[in-house]
Amino acid sequence: MSKTIAIGADHAGYLYKARLIEHLKSKGFEVVNVGTDAADSVDYPVFADKVCDCVASGKAAFGILICGTGIGMSMSSNKHKGIRAALCTDLVMAEYTRLHNNANVLCLGARIIACEMAEMIADKFLETEFEGGRHQRRIDLFDR
Ligand code: RB5
Repeated sequence: MSKTIAIGADHAGYLYKARLIEHLKSKGFEVVNVGTDAADSVDYPVFADKVCDCVASGKAAFGILICGTGIGMSMSSNKHKGIRAALCTDLVMAEYTRLHNNANVLCLGARIIACEMAEMIADKFLETEFEGGRHQRRIDLFDR
């Protein structure tokens, strides 16, 4: 069965989101698009909440969130219980946040990286498995 990815963006990220949705579908993923889908100014935490709810409830295996820098989306997402959101600007960060942090939400900055890089980062994030072991022990400490 194909994995479901929940994806959201603010006005700074919605064009990247549209490209990423097509990219993810071409790779066989199911996609839940929570918006926004226009250039009108919106508040990024609203869309972070929607994506994080999908991931925390199990409706989606992973989330992807895009704003201008990716910073606001990551700050907002990490307020949610059970969410480990990682802002990634390169492939090494995407790989290691899956290997070591078991990140379940990927945050991207549309004003920071090229759209092609965003696609490559998403691919790396989604294809990399968590290593577990000592890294699980460290993640467990998040919930003290
Ligand atoms: C919107 O202008 C911008 O603040 C937002 O997209 C994001 O970069 C916040 O972290």
